[in-house]
Amino acid sequence: MKKRVFSGIQPTGDLHIGNYLGAIQHWVKIQHEYDCIYCVVDLHAITIPQDPRILRAKTREVAGLLIASGIDPQIASVFIQSHVHEHSELTWILNCFIPMGWMRRMTQFKEKSQKQKEEVSTALFDYPALMAADILLYNTDEVPVGEDQKQHVELARDVAQRFNSVYGDTFTVPKAVIAKTGARIMALDDPTQKMSKSEEQPGRVINLLDSPDDIRNKIMRATTDSLREIRFDEDRPGINNLLVIYEQFTRQGREEIEGRFEGKGYVDLKRELAEVVVESLSPVQSRYRELTADPHHIDRLLAEGADKVRPIAEKTLARVRDMVGIG
Ligand code: AMP
Ligand code: TRP
Repeated sequence: MKKRVFSGIQPTGDLHIGNYLGAIQHWVKIQHEYDCIYCVVDLHAITIPQDPRILRAKTREVAGLLIASGIDPQIASVFIQSHVHEHSELTWILNCFIPMGWMRRMTQFKEKSQKQKEEVSTALFDYPALMAADILLYNTDEVPVGEDQKQHVELARDVAQRFNSVYGDTFTVPKAVIAKTGARIMALDDPTQKMSKSEEQPGRVINLLDSPDDIRNKIMRATTDSLREIRFDEDRPGINNLLVIYEQFTRQGREEIEGRFEGKGYVDLKRELAEVVVESLSPVQSRYRELTADPHHIDRLLAEGADKVRPIAEKTLARVRDMVGIG
């Protein structure tokens, strides 16, 4: 029996090369070794205000890009969270087993809520419970996530253990897997900050659906420094970031890359990097265009994805309802 992997991605904003190199490529790779379920988490997205039309479109775009990036829906499962109602119901039940104190310790809520103050939704506070439900519904063994989500996965672990200790073995206790080699891609215009989805600044983020000219322009304008030497050096975040992107897309060794650019200038590196990125994204973009040429095609794939995973969720929830004594 293969181990079960579950991970989720929010359909807010555009997917960028940070998502691709830091998460999606890893998801593609492990689909053959594990029983993988990948979820586009639209219920999480609505914890902050969303335009309904944009949300619906982005949800399909993100799912389409996962598939275009190489996640094979015949091998792994790709679905939309809100298509499987069990996520919402299990969240409510888990809420009854999560002490307020655990939730109050969640650092991401503290950060996110600072911006919205009193307007912040109750659901944003409860975000980790929904995430725990996502994970626990599918008897998940491993959850590949970025460092920032580790605390949430630990909460899922804690609530699983707590429930199991009250009612007997019900949930598989999951563990977070933080990819060790997963590169952290930084913003092009400010390489001290992580490249991230919600950015508005043009020139900051390379999106997976950016045109070749946009990609070239953004890379040519990327912030570097006034030195000359091209080498991996964390103290020179701009040049380091460009080299890491080059490394991740070409899969060449660091020495080889440094050798290749010895004696060359930053402009040479940027030009070559731009072509590497354009060429690497080109097959993803053309698969995406094929996939979305018929707008119903992606909807059918996602309906099939939900149909495939729903029985697992139903079985878990039925058991939980029984244990708790409801229904
Ligand atoms: P997010 O865009 O924050 O919803 O993250 C979705 C996934 O992409 C998570 O697994 C993140 O760890 C990964 N990710 C997001 N931004 C970056 C980045 N700049 N570099 C590497 N990985 C990233
Ligand atoms: N909260 C995660 C993020 O922002 C997305 C997510 C939702 C998730 N449910 C999940 C990740 C379950 C892993 C497992 O990146």
